[in-house]
Amino acid sequence: MKSISFQLCLGALVVSLLSACSGDVNGVPEPRAASETSIVSGRRLLAHYGCGLCHTIPGIPGADSMAGPPLNCFYERTYIAGRLSNTSDHLTKWIQDPQSIDPNTAMPNLGVTKDEAQDIAAYLYHRPSFLERRGFDRDCS
Ligand code: HEC
Repeated sequence: MKSISFQLCLGALVVSLLSACSGDVNGVPEPRAASETSIVSGRRLLAHYGCGLCHTIPGIPGADSMAGPPLNCFYERTYIAGRLSNTSDHLTKWIQDPQSIDPNTAMPNLGVTKDEAQDIAAYLYHRPSFLERRGFDRDCS
């Protein structure tokens, strides 16, 4: 028992040390820090703007369309829409005004404000465990 709890402690220490570091790990972006308020607001905004009419978005009821690419596991992506490196700034910009990145993209400009786009990005970047703890479905497989 003693050694198991020691191992658990050691594991927790390693995890907290790792999560204290930011940046990429083997080219995979780390999950972005975001407040819970922002993530919850992002979830509401994704439903409000009807992003699920074109996207499958885990955790958003009724968001099961395949007209656009699925928006799952965003914290693991390298690119946004195959055009931009996956940074919070780029994601926010894409959500606000996709035509400013590519005038020919089929994704419409829905009039999302910068603050709203930041909250939506926070939702897309959050770790699955955040919603699981609240009983929402958030499957990243
Ligand atoms: C009318 C359909 C439609 C709606 C509504 C829509 N999108 Fe999109 N979205 C698309 C399409 C199509 C693409 C692929 C665009 C491309 O690659 O040019 C896309 C791409 C994206 C991407 C990049 C996906 C990737 O795999 O890299 C994100 C992020 C995104 N949309 C977020 C949103 C958000 C957030 C909303 C709501 C505010 C939204 N979309 C509403 C059609 C839509």
